[in-house]
Amino acid sequence: MLSVSDSPTVTLRARTDDDAEVLYHLAADLETWEERSPAMPAPLTRSAYEARLAARDGDSADRAVNFVIDADGAAVGTVGLFDFDDLARQAEVGIALIAEARGKGIGTAALAQIVEFGFLRCNLRRLHLELIASNAGALRAYEKVGFVVEGRQREHAWVRGHYEDNIVMGLLRSEWASRRA
Ligand SMILES: CC(C)(COP(=O)(O)OP(=O)(O)OC[C@H]1O[C@@H](n2cnc3c(N)ncnc32)[C@H](O)[C@@H]1OP(=O)(O)O)[C@@H](O)C(=O)NCCC(=O)NCCS
Repeated sequence: MLSVSDSPTVTLRARTDDDAEVLYHLAADLETWEERSPAMPAPLTRSAYEARLAARDGDSADRAVNFVIDADGAAVGTVGLFDFDDLARQAEVGIALIAEARGKGIGTAALAQIVEFGFLRCNLRRLHLELIASNAGALRAYEKVGFVVEGRQREHAWVRGHYEDNIVMGLLRSEWASRRA
């Protein structure tokens, strides 16, 4: 099991072959499936995961920005931007950390970096995301980097035996710039 220090240096970088094991286990983790994905939970084989990555890497039309989250030199998760809207200059944010890396400020640090990347490097003017209402850690991490709740889809998600609200959050570049000033 990977040990992660209590205040690691967090950077975003490209995926390498050495990250494959950690990232596969994160993608296949059924414990946090509903937190990470609106798709129906199902076992994910290594070969299906690798085929998905290969298809994504080889798809020149896929405009997603996918980073590995690195803590003190080890891959501990992924963060990225997807569903780019070139006309409205907005995109969606996604993030997931392995269990050993949660609750140490890594998610907040990675989100701050992807938000800056989205606004300053991709010239986006709005970012948005969704989460299930019980995901208190995610809600707090998103609020800490400036996202605000924009809406609530009542009983939108089926989560391990019950319905849950889905929360929609957004952050404008102007708001983010004001916070930084
Ligand atoms: C959600 C996630 C990215 C948050 O990253 P993290 O590194 O664990 O969060 P941080 O350590 O930066 O904590 C951010 C804030 O949330 C709080 N927090 C963290 N986990 C919490 C929990 N389970 N319940 C309540 N608050 C929590 C922290 O105390 C901190 O707030 P504070 O600074 O005011 O004390 C991470 O936990 C994760 O990947 N979870 C599994 C996948 C997932 O849920 N992805 C998000 C999909 S929408």
